[in-house]
Amino acid sequence: MTNGSPKIQYYEHELNIRQVIEQSNLQDLDHPLNICDLSNLERKLRLWQKLMPRIKPHYAVKCNDDPVLVKFLADLGTGFDCASKNELKMVLGFGVSPERIIFAHPCRPANHLKYAKEHKVLNGTVDNEFEIYKLYKHYPDSNILVRFKSEAKKALCPLGDKYGCNAEEDAGALMLLAKALKLKVTGTSFHVGSGCSEVEAFDRAIEKAENIFNFGERIGHKMDLLDIGGGFPGIDDGVFEQIAEAVNTSVQLRFPDERVQIISEPGRFFVEAANTLICKVHGKREVRNKDGKLEQIMYYLNDGIFGAFAGMFYYPEVATPQPFLDNAETLPKFKSLIWGPSCDALDKLLGDFLLPNLNCGDLLGFVNMGAYTLPLASPFNGFDVPETRYFQEKPK
Ligand SMILES: Cc1ncc(COP(=O)(O)O)c(C=O)c1O
Repeated sequence: MTNGSPKIQYYEHELNIRQVIEQSNLQDLDHPLNICDLSNLERKLRLWQKLMPRIKPHYAVKCNDDPVLVKFLADLGTGFDCASKNELKMVLGFGVSPERIIFAHPCRPANHLKYAKEHKVLNGTVDNEFEIYKLYKHYPDSNILVRFKSEAKKALCPLGDKYGCNAEEDAGALMLLAKALKLKVTGTSFHVGSGCSEVEAFDRAIEKAENIFNFGERIGHKMDLLDIGGGFPGIDDGVFEQIAEAVNTSVQLRFPDERVQIISEPGRFFVEAANTLICKVHGKREVRNKDGKLEQIMYYLNDGIFGAFAGMFYYPEVATPQPFLDNAETLPKFKSLIWGPSCDALDKLLGDFLLPNLNCGDLLGFVNMGAYTLPLASPFNGFDVPETRYFQEKPK
């Protein structure tokens, strides 16, 4: 950022990564470069609004807390899912009103709750009785959403082992406890798992939410907020369309009353495709058998799993590298192994991948690096985390 505002470069029609690289004089950079296309976030928001107009997205800040990107979404008018005091602080600092925020963490430190109370962030999630007692003590006026567990059969990162009460037994007990303590339960929430690819998972969860709403209303809570969580794919718009259709059908059937507000907490949907990471080969080693035959080429990049690839610990999906060489497709390919820069042998990105013969100084690009990358990156071993440059389509 310069003078508090980021330097954004404008492009016409489509961002040309190759051109950006040519103009960036990367040979002089030791650190990796992250290219962020802010317009991609806007395209995603428009797609969401077109396909699920009733569901108001609250961007999950944890997924990528780059302030430039968060402010860009704030200016577009999205809501936010914050998990901590610092995330609340950032979003409120961008002028977002507290009604646009859900404090979606079922186990919050008391000081974070006090901060939420001071700033009138009313809505938050709870999945156990200790948190209800904590709210009774620190924030009795808040609105409680009971988070229940309802997992997809297929997701990159399931969350149900850690958060979410049992929808059939515990949710009712928590609502009764809240009632006895004169606290307000106003709705319910779930998360099917990050990177969900089971379309039916949403209807299964929304059906459970309907039962929780019915029970809550029966015991005297005024239920008017359904939060369908995150889990929406960031790259595959085809799967997203199918999920959107399933969600629309399900809410139309189970929550036809438009007075029930429906929100969501998408993270990777918004940001995954926005970032392309450019890494440099800074070291190379050839592995030969005892007859001297080349078996493999090892490359050492300037970013690895202690940096922007840290998410690989959790989501073993491997990004596909793109060499920026002329005629890369026609060049002979060699079995290659790619390491990150640290001295740790765990810092391995790809094994047995076919690549043209690269030299030190050559660049590799990795697309779709916007979700759960930079917030997890550390400068372990003294290697710099990526620098981000921001781009946006020229306003028409
Ligand atoms: C409570 C909560 N909401 C939203 C998200 C964002 O999920 P996703 O990036 O899959 O949309 C997460 C991710 O862990 C989460 O824990």
